[in-house]
Amino acid sequence: MLIHTIQELRTEINKWKKDGLTIGLVPTMGALHNGHLSLIKKAKSTCDKVVVSDFVNPIQFGPSEDFDKYPRTLEEDVKLCDGEGVDIVFAPSSDEMYGKGQRLSNDTLTYVCPPFFYVNKLCGKTRTGHFDGVCTVVLKLFNIVQPNYAFFGQKDAQQVIIIKKMVNDLNVPIEIIQCPIVREDTGLALSSRNKYLSETGKQDALVLSKILNNIKTCYNKGITDVEALKETAYSFLTDKHDMEYLEIVDKDTLEDKIKADDNSIALIACRVENVRLIDNIYLKESN
Ligand code: PAF
Repeated sequence: MLIHTIQELRTEINKWKKDGLTIGLVPTMGALHNGHLSLIKKAKSTCDKVVVSDFVNPIQFGPSEDFDKYPRTLEEDVKLCDGEGVDIVFAPSSDEMYGKGQRLSNDTLTYVCPPFFYVNKLCGKTRTGHFDGVCTVVLKLFNIVQPNYAFFGQKDAQQVIIIKKMVNDLNVPIEIIQCPIVREDTGLALSSRNKYLSETGKQDALVLSKILNNIKTCYNKGITDVEALKETAYSFLTDKHDMEYLEIVDKDTLEDKIKADDNSIALIACRVENVRLIDNIYLKESN
């Protein structure tokens, strides 16, 4: 069922709550791919009812980012969700989410601002205000849907850590389930932004997973010095790659490390054909 308004959604949710059913929420910005479908499958196997939100959230995009050209494929998304047995696709307008005529700025709208320590690094360094926008919309979705569980992909590792922190700090009674990264056979992590890449760009983009896999291999051979591990990336890079960051930090707290350990995650952001791509890998566990 496709629903556009909060009121209509609440009517359905209230019926489920009355019947004591568990509810799973999969927040998305649409342009669904197999990565999203893996979250939906996990939600289906965990909960009685599943809501997928499909909303390109304007307040998490910076002024020079791709909000206007972000792929919007609602009709296809709904078909995919139907195929997976999703109970409700919630696709509100911006007016529905933020109020008609509401100026989307933090001097007129209440924002949720995650701690500086978590946003002053990795993606947050160049995407000022991005995680404020993410936390604000995610908390709104949590309040609207009131799910028991919410499902997020490890591909956006910093996002999941920040959302878990928000849920913990603000006593939000929802369990956050993180699901593994889904990759093409080539190793490319699935992302809605892959749609912007040419075939050559997709080949060039393999460098992200190659760098990460190589770091993991080196770590498992005994190299632990973070700078030495990061150095190994350079042999993979060409003038097709505009690297934004490569970091090895604690996978739960995002704390910097001098020596990598079994709790480390390597994260990368790199532009290919001016498309900003991110990826990450746990150095110990298989992922
Ligand atoms: O990961 C995303 O697609 C978005 O950041 C999210 C969580 C749906 C919030 O808009």
